[in-house]
Amino acid sequence: MNPLQTTYLREQAERVRERLGNPTPTVAAVLGSGWGAALDDWRIEQTLAYESIPVLGSSAVKGHAGKLHLADADSHTCLIFQGRRHWYGCTAWDPIIFPVYLAHCLGVRTILLTNAAGGIRDDLDPGDLMVIDDHINAMGANPLRGPHQPDWGPRFPDLTRLYTPALQGQLMHAAATVDVVLKQGTYLAVSGPSYETPAEVRAYATMGAAAVGMSTVPEAIVAGALGMRVAGLSCITNRAAATGNEALSHDEVIAITAAATPRMRAVVGAFIRDLDTPAREEK
Ligand code: HPA
Repeated sequence: MNPLQTTYLREQAERVRERLGNPTPTVAAVLGSGWGAALDDWRIEQTLAYESIPVLGSSAVKGHAGKLHLADADSHTCLIFQGRRHWYGCTAWDPIIFPVYLAHCLGVRTILLTNAAGGIRDDLDPGDLMVIDDHINAMGANPLRGPHQPDWGPRFPDLTRLYTPALQGQLMHAAATVDVVLKQGTYLAVSGPSYETPAEVRAYATMGAAAVGMSTVPEAIVAGALGMRVAGLSCITNRAAATGNEALSHDEVIAITAAATPRMRAVVGAFIRDLDTPAREEK
């Protein structure tokens, strides 16, 4: 992060705020691969294409729509990022972390990050949903690196309880109310775009990773540094490093998330509907 970037992102955030008519959302959600169906339950008030927001630009990855919505989800006005930018496809952090920065600028203090991931732990099968209880950053990079910018929180942010325990509980509770089983585990992020080798997956298992993916961790780090409450959900789309004869493919990832759609939609809907957003910034 450097001062010019910070100034640019602040200007971009102000521009989006104006285009959305100065809303005051209480919660934000980043809907990763396959999670977009969660939108079907909410009244969409406004939509901006990522292409129309210079810092976000366009993505060519299948399953990664790029739309920013302002939605009315019963008791909450929600800022929804349908699709995200990934480190493997970018030359800078700006498009990846802008959604979190924008949400924070608009006063949001609670963010839900969702993704698709490969299951590493034995009990995680394709189609399972997992609450992220912690992460391992194996991307070899950190979005907060560079001269310290106070806009982005402290120089050395504490990540001890990054995935807010109360929100993990609320996710489990929300899932129970809609009869969906949620597993819980640690998400490990790699930079991608290549999938992992079997040796890497064995190594990650010994490190304590339950699932592996190519996103979420940068956004969670930034949100945590900004003092936001973070919730994370993974849809397990495959066993990490294909164990069968078939090679791993992005089409498989998309097909599995399609089958899990009703459960993903039910959990996210129930979570946002019942969400407690504290008036104070308490974790
Ligand atoms: N590895 C990394 N990212 C992924 C995977 C995987 O197996 N599945 C979905 N996203």
